[in-house]
Amino acid sequence: MRQSSLVVVANRLPIDDSQAPDGACEWRRSPGGLVSALHPLLRHTPATWVGWAGGTGPAPALPDVDGVRMHTVALSPEDLRDHYEGFANATLWPLYHDAVEQPQHHRRWWEAYQRVNQRFAEATAEVAEPGGVVWVQDYHLQLVPGLLRAFRPDLRIGFFLHVPFPPPELFMQLPRRAELLRGMLGADLVGFQRVQAAHNFAQLVTRVLELPATDRRIGVDDRVVRIGAFPVSIDTAEMGALAARPDVAARARRLRQDLGDPRQVILSVDRMDYTKGIEQRLKAYSELLATGDVKVRDTVLVQVAMPSRERVGQYQILRERIEREVGRINGEFGRVGEPAIHYLTQPFDRAELAALYRVADVMAVTPLRDGMNLVAKEYVAARVDDTGALLLSEFAGTAAELSQAYLVNPHDLEGLKQGLRAALRASPADVTQRMRAMRAHLHEHDIRAWARSYLRALDEGGALVGRLSSTDTNPDGVARVPRPATAPTASPATHQAGG
Ligand code: ADP
Ligand code: G6P
Repeated sequence: MRQSSLVVVANRLPIDDSQAPDGACEWRRSPGGLVSALHPLLRHTPATWVGWAGGTGPAPALPDVDGVRMHTVALSPEDLRDHYEGFANATLWPLYHDAVEQPQHHRRWWEAYQRVNQRFAEATAEVAEPGGVVWVQDYHLQLVPGLLRAFRPDLRIGFFLHVPFPPPELFMQLPRRAELLRGMLGADLVGFQRVQAAHNFAQLVTRVLELPATDRRIGVDDRVVRIGAFPVSIDTAEMGALAARPDVAARARRLRQDLGDPRQVILSVDRMDYTKGIEQRLKAYSELLATGDVKVRDTVLVQVAMPSRERVGQYQILRERIEREVGRINGEFGRVGEPAIHYLTQPFDRAELAALYRVADVMAVTPLRDGMNLVAKEYVAARVDDTGALLLSEFAGTAAELSQAYLVNPHDLEGLKQGLRAALRASPADVTQRMRAMRAHLHEHDIRAWARSYLRALDEGGALVGRLSSTDTNPDGVARVPRPATAPTASPATHQAGG
């Protein structure tokens, strides 16, 4: 088994099995913020990525992608149901997002969570060089740091949570709260998106485990675990370069024509998730249409909603509700050849997304709760001519950084409508002033700055930082690699073309 000095461990691998338009087999970058952040960062580094390839059955042997080794972990149908769809996405995900949907608790799910975390820890131990660095990602794998430390104390272990970490009164609902906290404390450094999350964690550790904790350090046995906020970002230069490409600019012009040359285009790009506030946004838009504040010929809304976690009941119900509402709004306000909402559920490559960002006069990013929200950052990075209004939820981690956006509370329907109206009617000078400030921030705080600050803190010397690549040769994020001998069995939980 080949070993690496840097191992990234995440539930999902950065690539998805998908079909190219010419029918060829392609592995494409998986949507979702975690992959968008880490994939450009790790390209051309001698790292190994341990993760799940989607589907069930034996783990397929994947070739390296952009120089990064792919080490797959298999999930059985029961693991998929009870670990991924169950404990990860029907217990932890809703609980960590303010319980906007009811978290469910089943003992069988917890068993699967432990089992799958154990499997990831074992797979990681196999591929990590002696004394190497392991960087564990996100809520699916909170037990991995503790399990790994038990049999590989030589490793330096980092953990980063991409989603919010909830306040104590919510986390305390978890029947296995102590085990989850202990699992995370197996790391040398526990990173969060926001300072408040680190504070919540320190409070919980004190309360549940009775350990001495501040918002920066926690004493565990004879070790010190450091904690802190490291807001994740994007490859700002990559998105800027992509958006500035002449073919992307031409594509944006063509898109505008195809949309009927409206005066203003509003865009939203989300995974179809109840945390994203899609229903609230549609309601606000529909009320603006009803009052005549927004007119169909003048303005169009493009809503990209990529289906996600499709076998989980709450996601199925959400999709039905959204599609019914889009149908109702188009039926009521659209005209022949002029729908009020262009609704798209397909995956797009990076160049097409960049063209969409370029065509959007207003970008509406209004989640009810979001760890960060990289779509908002991608939009800003793509606005190379300093135009475009970003309507942003106060409840997205991004709002702490992009405070010059038009900020709204998505729970407040009137406030949401007012924010949308303000963004649509803003003066070009105001829009440009705000956009320039946000672009300057993202120029400094890009994905490499994030990785540098995290890895420096983990490494306490910074030698690791030099192992990351600084160039990018594949901005489209499409890796054409031969299909492996054993292809993973397709499952509705994978991101496939059309869902
Ligand atoms: P989350 O991680 O919750 O999905 P983020 O906004 O942080 O939310 O990240 C979403 C990522 O997925 C972004 O990089 C975005 O460009 C990408 N994405 C969203 N929808 C699509 C789509 N339809 N096709 C391709 N990529 C998408
Ligand atoms: C969020 C999570 C990631 C996850 C992504 C896509 O960004 O923080 O861990 O990979 O959503 O969700 P999925 O369930 O398809 O992996």
